Order: sequence, then C-alpha cells, then structure tokens
Amino acid sequence: MARNEPTIRRVDEYLEAHRDVFERQLVELLRVASVSAQPDHDPETRRAAEMVRDDFQAMGIEARLVETARHPIVEAEWLGAPGLPTLLVYGHYDVQPAEPLEPWHSPPFEPTVRNGNLYARGATDDKGQMLTHLKAAEAWLKTAGRLPLNVRFLIEGEEEVGGAGLEKYVAENADRLRCDFAVISDTSQFAPGMPAITYGLKGLAYFELLVQGADRDLHSGTFGGAVANPINALCSILASLKGMDGRIQIEGFYDAVRPLEDWERAEFARLPFSEEAFREDLHVGSLFGEEGYTTIERKWARPTCDINGIFGGYAGPGPKTVLPCKAGAKLSFRLVPDQDPRTVDRLFREHVARVCPPGVTYEILTHHGAPAVLVDVDTPAVRAATRAVESGFGTRPVLMREGGSIPVVGLIKQHLGVDTLLLGWGQNDDNLHGPNEKFSLADFHRGIRSAAHLLAELASDSE
Ligand code: BES
Ligand code: ZN
Repeated sequence: MARNEPTIRRVDEYLEAHRDVFERQLVELLRVASVSAQPDHDPETRRAAEMVRDDFQAMGIEARLVETARHPIVEAEWLGAPGLPTLLVYGHYDVQPAEPLEPWHSPPFEPTVRNGNLYARGATDDKGQMLTHLKAAEAWLKTAGRLPLNVRFLIEGEEEVGGAGLEKYVAENADRLRCDFAVISDTSQFAPGMPAITYGLKGLAYFELLVQGADRDLHSGTFGGAVANPINALCSILASLKGMDGRIQIEGFYDAVRPLEDWERAEFARLPFSEEAFREDLHVGSLFGEEGYTTIERKWARPTCDINGIFGGYAGPGPKTVLPCKAGAKLSFRLVPDQDPRTVDRLFREHVARVCPPGVTYEILTHHGAPAVLVDVDTPAVRAATRAVESGFGTRPVLMREGGSIPVVGLIKQHLGVDTLLLGWGQNDDNLHGPNEKFSLADFHRGIRSAAHLLAELASDSE
C-alpha cells in the first residue's frame, strides 16, 4: 500500500475537486426515464445505456453496448495491469416504474435536492450507487493515468424486470468475464453513519396463480351456492400458505433451510436495532412474523411468503352482485440458504394441487427465481473492502445480511466462480421502488471514495 500513498492522495484530491461535476452527472443520468418494464420508455432506456457507455469512453475506458432481446448491456474494461488481479463491477442503469406519481413531492425524473438528499427514481437503485464506481475509476485514470488493477464493468438494463439477457450473456461469456473478485453497490448501509458489508441476500421464487370458474360471469343470486366462486377458491388457497404463527405451511418447505447459527444470532442481537422504533416508523400496532425469531432474523435469514397482488371480480364504485368467472394473484417466496427455487416451485405446485377446492381449474406461472446468497467473510477481499469503506466513511463497516435479492450474484458465483462484495451506500429509508426515492449526496461522495480506495486495497492485497 505504501507505494500508492502519494497517488491515493491525488485521487482523493481529484474526488474533492469534482464533487459538483459528479453530482451534475448523476442528475443528468437521473433525468433519463430508463424504466425497463415500460416499452414506451425504450428510447430513454437506450439513451441511459449510451450515456453510461459515453462516460466510460470519456475517461479512456473502452466500452460498447451489447444487444440483448430487450435492453443493451454496457460492457467496458480496462486491462492495463497484466499480472495483477481483475475486479468485476456490476451495476444497473434501468429503474423501476415511478407510478404512483401522486405521492412524489417532486417529479421522479426531475432530480431535486432537499436536506442533502437527491430525490429521483433511480437515485439509490441503482444509478447513484453504480456511478460511484465509474467516478472512482475516472479519478485514478485522470490522476495516475492507470487503475491499480484490471477492471471489467458490466452495467445492465434489465435488472428491474428480471431479464434473461444478462444470464445468457454471463453464461456465454464466462471465459472473457474471468475475474478474481466482483463488487456490487446496490444495497444499503445498516443505518446512517453505519456503513455495512452485506454477506447474505435472499433468493426468490415468484409465481402467478390464475383460477378459473365458469366460462362467464354469473348472477350471484341465481348461480351463487351452486357454482364454485374462483375468488373464494383463490382466497382459500392463499390462506392455506401461511399459519397464524407466521410459518409457511407447504409440506417440505423448510427441509432445506439452513438454521441460523448461534454465533450469527448473537451478532445480529448486538447490532443497534430497536423493534419498537421500527414498529413506530411503520405505524403498525404490532409487528408480525415467524414465531421464535427476532425482526432482524426474520428480515435477513428466514424464508417468507407474500402475496404481491390480487385481482378478480368487481372493484368499481357501488355494489355489483356478481359471481366472477376468474381470479388471480401474484405471490412470491423469499428464500434462504440452501433452498433451491426449483424445489420450491415443485413443492408450491404440489401444495396447490392438494388444497385447491373443487369446481375450479387453475394455472400456475413461474416468474423469475434465484437462489439465496451467503458469502464467506473471512477473506482477503472482504478485509480489503473493510479498509476501503473505512477510508470512505470514516468508520468500520458492520457485517449484515439483507432481505432483498440480487440474482446476478448467483450467476457470478455459478459461472465465474467468485464471491461478490456487496458494498451498499444506500439507507433503509431511501424508498427504492417507491415514491420519493432518494440518495444522500454525502453518501454518494463517501461511496465514490470507498470505491476508489477499494481498487488500491484489492491490488495491494495481492502484491
Ligand atoms: N437493489 C435491489 C436489491 C435490494 C433490495 C438489496 C433491498 C437490498 C435491499 C434490487 O434492485 C432489487 O430490487 N431486486 C429485486 C430482485 C428481483 C426483481 C429479481 C428484489 O429484491 O425484489
Ligand atoms: Zn431494484
């Protein structure tokens, strides 16, 4: 590390001198409504990809768009350090839909600063976080003329739609994408002033359940009681999934679940977390979850089942005495190690076959699935990341897990054989996927500094 001392100081100076420029660049990127789920936003989604590519080229990193069935991947690399290790940086330029618009205090694609936070769709998820790694590379290239190690960038545009484009790309290009470590900034800190390294993410198994009764809507007086109602049937299926004790009642569902270890429960319990403050912030009378586990354990390390949407029948103004002919629900399971999404798929289907009431038919569609992730924290890369985050935030990061999912982490492990460093610069109240998404500008700059130091720390570890 000593050899790099004067250089890292110049890198830090560059970062200080360019704070305003970086913020303006983030604002420009956030103005582009790259909503991957909405086809009418396709031109803007492409525009965001081009902006990211152009930014790489402006700092002297070769970059190109790789076409997929939907939104292009931005691929870039700087491989000017032969013999030194290679870091893979992943991020995504697409964002979630901004709707509903009404609760936004400023328009989602007109970035606005309030109280040191930048409000815009994509601010934290993931444009702001992703950009920290680009600006870190820029600072090295503009001051030292090189990066401390080789770096590949993989910035995709289908993360928020669970696109198959990236999976195909990683599988087919595993050889070219070879790397020694990977880093993703698309998670949160534990709390303000408490940066974190995330070592666990949940997996996901997502379904749509469609129930059909008669071939047309019927009068609920003339036909009610004589023909099965698909909404009633759907509700009874859904109600059978979870008990009052918060346990999922699908046979075999918990078989593969790796129990929490004592040391981990003790570590979680040491983190400063108030169940009462958490409850109050959500304005609920009480918290609810699986019996026998704390809120942090439920959030980070126990599988869950949630109905995400339900539809069918009449929901307009006033009453309508109808016996609807179909109903449906979207539902998902968050998985933990060592649950296999394919096994959960099978168990869920067997369960529905068992409990579906007579008189209706149903269909189950499987949306995306991803296994949970748990990475080894006792590695040189995690120690290097710890030092880097400490340089950026002025305090040592805590270790934590998360309830969210980042499917690419599993792909990186499966196809490239490496664990990913999950260095999140966000906050828990950043409202990702919701109205008034934000990102702290102070954390943006601390993130950039951490990312810049990470390059040096990872390189020096291998010297
Ligand atoms: N950035 C999130 C993942 C995340 C969420 C990490 C919360 C930490 C805390 C990511 O963009 C995301 O939303 N992922 C989806 C995955 C899905 C669409 C396959 C998720 O977790 O719902
Ligand atoms: Zn997201």
